[in-house]
Amino acid sequence: MPEPPKILYASEPDLDAAEFCRVLVESGFGGGHGELRLKAMLSHADLVLTARLDRRDRKLVGVLRGVTDFFWVCYISELAVSKSAQGLGIGKGLVGDARRQLGPVVAMALISEPDAVGFYERIGMTRIPAAFWFSREC
Ligand SMILES: CC(C)(COP(=O)(O)OP(=O)(O)OC[C@H]1O[C@@H](n2cnc3c(N)ncnc32)[C@H](O)[C@@H]1OP(=O)(O)O)[C@@H](O)C(=O)NCCC(=O)NCCS
Repeated sequence: MPEPPKILYASEPDLDAAEFCRVLVESGFGGGHGELRLKAMLSHADLVLTARLDRRDRKLVGVLRGVTDFFWVCYISELAVSKSAQGLGIGKGLVGDARRQLGPVVAMALISEPDAVGFYERIGMTRIPAAFWFSREC
């Protein structure tokens, strides 16, 4: 069996919007936010963590984007791993990195895609029944 690829984790506050979009699409998450919105989402984020293949082109295969005050709670807005790299521990690795960077005083919250619920349960997150949401209108 081939060795699993080595993954490089990093904080990339200046991540390129096109790369971000590619991973969203490759993960199955979808990337229909539009370029302007994606750029704004990245430039206003507080946490942009990446996972890249440890090879010459350093291909981006995973990303986590969080919004936080660094003192109370961090909202994970996107967590996406390219389909070709899913199941290698990258999603868990990115969440672990985020938790280490935020430290023990900061809670983490997110709204799961239906297909990802089992992942969040698997990595030990607690399901909160009383969550509320106003949908964006455009
Ligand atoms: C959900 C997602 C981020 C998981 O990333 P990943 O790198 O494939 O997951 P990992 O390899 O880190 O998995 C960690 C553990 O969770 C399990 N797991 C992964 N996805 C799972 C799922 N959908 N359901 C149940 N368990 C899952 C793995 O088997 C692994 O278990 P193990 O610790 O026993 O080995 C990735 O599948 C993805 O990008 N999905 C599409 C986009 C999406 O839905 N993102 C979440 C938005 S809320």
